[in-house]
Amino acid sequence: MTLPDIRTTLPGPKAKALIARDGAVVSPSYTRGYPLVIKRASGASVEDVDGNMFLDCAAGIAVNSTGHSHPDVVRAITEQAQRFLHMSGTDFYYDVQVRLAEELAALVPIDGSARSFFGNSGTEAIEASLKLARHATGRPNIIAFFGGFHGRTMGALALTASKPVQRRGFGPFMPGVYHAPFADCYRCPLGLKPDDCEAECLDFIEHQLFMHLMTPEEVAAVVIEPIQGEGGYVVAPTQFLERLRELTAEHGILLVVDEVQSGMGRTGKMFAIEHANVKPDMIAIAKGIASGMPLGVSVARADLMTWPPGAHASTFGGNPVSCAAALATIKLLKESLIANAAEVGAHLKEGLTALMDQHPLIGDVRGRGLMIGVELVRDRTTKERAIQERDAVVNAAFRRGLLVLGAGKNSIRFSPPLVLTREQADTAVRVLSEALTEVEGRT
Ligand SMILES: Cc1ncc(COP(=O)(O)O)c(C=O)c1O
Repeated sequence: MTLPDIRTTLPGPKAKALIARDGAVVSPSYTRGYPLVIKRASGASVEDVDGNMFLDCAAGIAVNSTGHSHPDVVRAITEQAQRFLHMSGTDFYYDVQVRLAEELAALVPIDGSARSFFGNSGTEAIEASLKLARHATGRPNIIAFFGGFHGRTMGALALTASKPVQRRGFGPFMPGVYHAPFADCYRCPLGLKPDDCEAECLDFIEHQLFMHLMTPEEVAAVVIEPIQGEGGYVVAPTQFLERLRELTAEHGILLVVDEVQSGMGRTGKMFAIEHANVKPDMIAIAKGIASGMPLGVSVARADLMTWPPGAHASTFGGNPVSCAAALATIKLLKESLIANAAEVGAHLKEGLTALMDQHPLIGDVRGRGLMIGVELVRDRTTKERAIQERDAVVNAAFRRGLLVLGAGKNSIRFSPPLVLTREQADTAVRVLSEALTEVEGRT
């Protein structure tokens, strides 16, 4: 079947009716960029309730790693559901939770042995990492980065420094959290060029935070996304991550990498941190790990996880159906999908980069594997952010049947299922180009 295939004006009549009902009863805090009402989906294709077919380059916010309803994942879910749905892995034992912890211990780029704490979401994986970092070190403070997004529960939200709307009205926040500049090389906070840079933005931690606000011995952990997700798909250079590892190791500070969005094969390696020569102390995982079933995991160096029974737990964490989905997901990732993310991702990035010749709105194309950001600017020299234009392009793409999401204020994110084919990548580039042409024609 050729995708996309749009048959009605959007939203169609059935979609309109459901959106009206949703508007009366569902929280208005959700960010619905455009009116997609899904009926069913498979692989990278999504059908809406009016029979329109879309090419999905959003994957439910980078979650459907193996594609929508991959038969192997659905089978694993069904078989586990028929055995039992829940028993609480915090109070009892079951096979799939142990198998998943064994699998993760073998997969993560953590030195030595590792243990897993299971929750249900990205924000819970971060909460667990924060609590464990404080518990294991006996230190109070946490350093995170501007532009970072780590979740919306009160601990994680204190770290999140992505958009003011996510924080406004919710303070005061958890004390002991400090922010440092992220290595956003397209908009270098120090005005440097990547070629002659030694990750000087990290000096802020040593020369400002450690000089004026606290000693390094008061810091439990630095938490970082190797590629900022919600912040705009901003790739931290390997040198920055490697220097950060040296700095944290020197002071006995734990390095926690938030791989909630960048992990599970999306960047062409199982974890984005593996693109650098860095061994973190903890990794927070969620989104793609179970292909759409809710699961969040904090994986940590085994010698750090010495908290006693009762210190931290979650009733639903490590739900057996989610664990079964995760085991099936990991098998598919290892067999072929990580390699596909690397290969088709490189092809997609090349196609998107080539669009810069025709579309002055594109200021930057960046990313690794199938985690690619396209930043839109009004002027390539001043880099003025094209905020309304970004929203208009995302909408114009939707009307043509391409599902993409915004990231940051003015970037478009490509986070498709990792089953995307080269042909589908070409279609995505073509449709984005048409959407850009439409919006550029208006300005
Ligand atoms: C890097 C990162 N960390 C944490 C979270 C929070 O995950 P969740 O929405 O599952 O709580 C997100 C969500 O987008 C994320 O991208």
